[in-house]
Amino acid sequence: MSRMRIVLGVSGASGAAIPLRILERLQEIEDVETHLVVSDAARRTLSHECGPGALGRLLAMATENHPIRDVGATIASGSFRTTGMIVAPCSMRTLAAIATGIADNLLVRAADVHLKERRRLILLARETPLHLGHLRNMCSVAEMGAVVMPPVPAFYHRPESVEAIVDHIAARTIDLLGLPIPPLAREWEG
Ligand SMILES: Cc1cc2nc3c(=O)[nH]c(=O)nc-3n(C[C@H](O)[C@H](O)[C@H](O)COP(=O)(O)O)c2cc1C
Repeated sequence: MSRMRIVLGVSGASGAAIPLRILERLQEIEDVETHLVVSDAARRTLSHECGPGALGRLLAMATENHPIRDVGATIASGSFRTTGMIVAPCSMRTLAAIATGIADNLLVRAADVHLKERRRLILLARETPLHLGHLRNMCSVAEMGAVVMPPVPAFYHRPESVEAIVDHIAARTIDLLGLPIPPLAREWEG
């Protein structure tokens, strides 16, 4: 496999600007091929939070788009080798489905494949406050090898805009993939 394949799943939690920024940044990296799968609820949050053109912009940036119901897509199989998968944002419904292995759509199936193949899976799980069921599901996916990264802003960089917060979260998420590139997020210098 010469190109690095990254799967990006977008589910219907708040934070629709984050996958847009992640795909923008991934487009800048040489030899990266992106595979996008968007849930039905995410279509709604994208439009609500980022405007009616957001879904189109997101789809246009991906190398390949996969319909959420296409459980026979390439990314549904462990034989299709990938570098890792990001779910951004990850709703509590999608988190619960991943935690319990209920792979009833392509996004959850692709996440399930990443867990079973012991590949990197990063979940930007977003809800607040959290009940015990949410927390237990986070424990389950962490025990199975996923990285749970709630999209919580870091204030020590003194962000001056929502864009700066989104940019930092997107950069930290991509850095977690461990691609052979210099880190995107600015390092804390003490
Ligand atoms: C504007 C909006 C914001 C939402 N924010 C969240 C959220 O932050 N976290 C969450 O778990 N669900 C959130 N939801 C509810 C999910 O979209 C809903 O549970 C949906 O069934 C998730 O489906 P999916 O996991 O297939 O995307 C939100 C819904 C809307 C319309």
